[in-house]
Amino acid sequence: MIKKIATKDLAVGMFVTDVGRSWLNHPWKSKTRLLTDLAEIRELLDYGIEEVYIDTEKSKLPSSAPKQFYTPKPGTVRQSTSQRPAAQPKPPEPTTYLEKELPKAYKAYTKALDTSKALVAACYMNKRIEVSEVQENVDELVESVSRNQDALTALIKLKSFDDYTYTHCLNVSVLSISTGKALGLSDADLRILGMGTMFHDLGKTRIPSYILNKPGKLTDDEFAIMRNHAALSADIILEQKLNVDDQVIKVARFHHERMDGSGYPDHLRGEEIPPLATICGLSDVYDALTSDRVYHKGKLPHDALKFIYSLRGTHFEPSWVDRFVQSVGIYPPGSVVELNSGHVAVVMEINHGSLLTPVIKVVADPKGVITNKPKLVNLKDYANNSGWTIKRVIPPSEAGFDPAYYFNLKDAK
Ligand SMILES: [Fe+2]
Ligand SMILES: [Fe+2]
Repeated sequence: MIKKIATKDLAVGMFVTDVGRSWLNHPWKSKTRLLTDLAEIRELLDYGIEEVYIDTEKSKLPSSAPKQFYTPKPGTVRQSTSQRPAAQPKPPEPTTYLEKELPKAYKAYTKALDTSKALVAACYMNKRIEVSEVQENVDELVESVSRNQDALTALIKLKSFDDYTYTHCLNVSVLSISTGKALGLSDADLRILGMGTMFHDLGKTRIPSYILNKPGKLTDDEFAIMRNHAALSADIILEQKLNVDDQVIKVARFHHERMDGSGYPDHLRGEEIPPLATICGLSDVYDALTSDRVYHKGKLPHDALKFIYSLRGTHFEPSWVDRFVQSVGIYPPGSVVELNSGHVAVVMEINHGSLLTPVIKVVADPKGVITNKPKLVNLKDYANNSGWTIKRVIPPSEAGFDPAYYFNLKDAK
C-alpha cells in the first residue's frame, strides 16, 4: 500500500517510493529507496522535503514487525511453530492492579512516543525543542508510575511500538522513573529524571550515521567520535537555553560515566556521578541489551540482568545494581515461564520484596494444553500455590502465544 508520511516520521527499513520532487530537487540518484540509514532521512530533511510516499508492503521494519505470537486458543496444545490458527476468544477481564493501569499507561506512552519522535526531528533540523510539551508527557509518565510502578515497564515488554531510534529514549525514561519510584524519589525528582532521560541520547543526532549504524565493532577513532554523544546531548540543551533543571543537563552528560572511572566524557568516579545519571545509565544498558535491533535479537530480561550484575562493583555501585534489579524484577510482567510441575504461566505482577515468586497466571497444563480458565496465583503465597516454583523462562519465540493477550492488550491501539 502506498502511504503519504511526514519525513520526520520515516524510519530505517521503510521503502520510499516517491520523494515528491524532480530529481534536481532531492538528494538521491533515484526517487525510490529502501532506507537503511538515518542519514538518508536527514538528507531529505536537509533538502526541506517534509513529506514522502512509502510502500508499506516493500518496507522491512525489523523491530516493529509483528511478533511471532498467536492468541492462545483454549483446548489446543501450545506450539512454538507459526502454524497456529489465530483464534479470537473474548479477552479476559483485568484481575490485577497492573492490568487496570495498562490502558492509561498505553495512552501516556503513545503520546510521549510522538513527542520523542518530534524531539529527534527537531535536533536533526536544528529547530527549537518544545520543553513544555516534553515535560507534560513526562508528568503523565510519572503519574502512571505513581498509580502502578510496573504498568509502563510491562507495556514496553509486551508491545513493540516503533523503531529503536525513537523508542529508546522514552523506554529509558520509563525504566528510570519506575526505578526512581522504587527508590523513593520525590515526584519533583522523578520529573527531572524523566526529562534528563528523554534527552540523554539526543547528541546522537550529531554523530555521523555510518558510525551510529555500523554493524561491526567500531575502530578506536570511531568510538572516540561516538563517545561525544553524551556531551553533545548536554550541549543541545545548553545551546537552546532550554528552561530545565541543572540535573537534567547532568543526566544527559553523565549517563555513560562509570563508578571505576572507565566511563565518559569526564571519567567521573564513585560519588562524583550524580545518582540520577546512574539510574539513567543502568536503564540505558538494560534497554540496549533487551531491545531487538537490526543486527541482533534482544536478550531475555533475566539474561540482561545477569550481564548488569557482572558490572556490579566496577561499572556500577553494587547497591545501585541491587536496587535496579529489585525494581525491574527478575521475571518482569509478560515473561512466559515453565513451572517445576511442567505448567506454563505468564508473569502478571512483580512481588518487589520477593523477586523469585511473582504473581502469575497459569495458562497451560504440563502437556501444553491451553486452559480456558487461567488461574491467577501469587507464588509468594505458599498456601495457595501447590508448591509451584519457576523452573525456567520460555523465550518469546517458543511461547506459541502472545502473552499480551492475558493483559487484554492484544488489540490495544
Ligand atoms: Fe548514550
Ligand atoms: Fe542510550
